[in-house]
Amino acid sequence: MNILFIGDIVGASGRAAVKKHLPALKQRYDIDFVIANGENAAHGKGITPRIYQELITNGIQCITLGNHAYSKSEIMMIKDQADRLVFPANLLPTSDLNQTKVFRVKEKTLAVTNLMTQVFMENVSQSPFESMDKILETVNADVHIVDLHGEATSEKIAFAYHYKNVLAGVFGTHTHVQTADERIIDGCAFISDVGMTGPYESIIGRDIAEVLARIIQKTATKYTIAESEAVFSAIYVRFDSSNRANFVERIQIRP
Ligand SMILES: [Fe+2]
Ligand SMILES: [Fe+2]
Repeated sequence: MNILFIGDIVGASGRAAVKKHLPALKQRYDIDFVIANGENAAHGKGITPRIYQELITNGIQCITLGNHAYSKSEIMMIKDQADRLVFPANLLPTSDLNQTKVFRVKEKTLAVTNLMTQVFMENVSQSPFESMDKILETVNADVHIVDLHGEATSEKIAFAYHYKNVLAGVFGTHTHVQTADERIIDGCAFISDVGMTGPYESIIGRDIAEVLARIIQKTATKYTIAESEAVFSAIYVRFDSSNRANFVERIQIRP
């Protein structure tokens, strides 16, 4: 089974990069299933029903989220029907812990879970370790992948080591900066952060002048998304017949 996981898609430029690069990548890597983090897909914060549909139409089969999951309230209208949308299981205000979605891919079952880490992250209901243990009580798929959304690389690496025998992939998201530490830990594919698919000339996706004004002059800002062409960031993972990762490749296509 060949999986492509795309890092945080930011705004219109990130969505355009998906449309531009995904068809060729799917062909080159013989991809069976595409997962993407879409927490910034709608103008940098959250996702709308229209954009969810657009991303699915453009070849993404499962969309995970993060701290911006509920930023666009319209998404609540389709939250329970959107069968390809995975909300973080430990992000408030959700009360429905088990948000894992299970898909059928090449005669196998593929589970996708989305969890928040705790360091520097807000509105987290419980530790990702507690949530993961609860999820594993009911979910038993051939291949189980977690989008681990958070700031601290150490926390993400610790999580991967703790669950390396039960998970087949732990992919970090949220920082929007790709890390060069992709590897396989005893059959579990891992990267601290996949990086963003969003405006390259930017400060993690946002307008440079606006972020500088906020940092230096403490000016109130509007959260303007930069308009430059996007960098495309993803990770490719191959799983063998025993459902363990045996090859991983970090992908970054700059404009
Ligand atoms: Fe985030
Ligand atoms: Fe993000």
